[in-house]
Amino acid sequence: MTSSNARFDLAVDLARRAGDLLRPGLGRASVEHKSPLELVTEFDRASEHLIIEGVASAFPADGVLAEEGGARPGEAWRWIIDPLDGTTNFAHGIPHFAVSIAGEERGVIEFGVVYDPMRDELFTARRGEGAFLNDSRQRVSATDTLADSLLVTGFPYDLDRNPENNLNLYARLAMQSRGVRRLGSAALDLAYVAAARFDGYWELRLSPWDLAAGLLLVTEAEGVVTRVDGRPDPLRMPASVAASNGRIHTALLEALR
Ligand code: IPD
Ligand code: CA
Ligand code: CA
Repeated sequence: MTSSNARFDLAVDLARRAGDLLRPGLGRASVEHKSPLELVTEFDRASEHLIIEGVASAFPADGVLAEEGGARPGEAWRWIIDPLDGTTNFAHGIPHFAVSIAGEERGVIEFGVVYDPMRDELFTARRGEGAFLNDSRQRVSATDTLADSLLVTGFPYDLDRNPENNLNLYARLAMQSRGVRRLGSAALDLAYVAAARFDGYWELRLSPWDLAAGLLLVTEAEGVVTRVDGRPDPLRMPASVAASNGRIHTALLEALR
């Protein structure tokens, strides 16, 4: 077994175990504020602890970048972890959230795992090997116009203070597409593009842990990912993403300009 396969198998196991830990906390967590709108719960921290400990005991030389502070320098490999993507949903008892784990070797994302514990949907991708939902191969949608597209987006937590808050783009795209959803988990938004549930997704000012796994899901499902301005490298900070089935990408970028 290659080192990438062993790490992928561990990521799947840790995502499922983190999901088991999160499920009973839905709507029952005690909530703290990181900022006026940004919440964190003891479940975010417990999930991160479980994942980081699992990585450290199997691959002690690997680096970690995780949302709730778990940063550790490493050698060739780095694990990019969002232990609970969709905390606001989780805190309000809305069963739409995920665990997101990506494995990066020398700057290249090699695998991505996004697990939705409430629906038991496991989205996985390995570089060059396609995207899967549970055991079934996924491909992006075949929709070829923006007007026929169902889109999804999200908004930053400081939207009341920072004018780059996506509200203008939301209004514009809502009028040019079949609709724009706001579901509250960037990792699942990307997974749903890979699974052809959405035709496109964009969002501004994210963090690497929101995107790292989901971006590979989309490209391995034969979709396209760029920054919102069309340039490459959505993970460069501040992370920004436009992801689509490819066929609508030019029109999506045009509308986002
Ligand atoms: C958030 C979700 C949300 C997105 C926010 C993210 P969190 O992550 O992915 O959909 O709009 O920008 O910060 O805080 O729930 O891990
Ligand atoms: Ca997140
Ligand atoms: Ca999170």
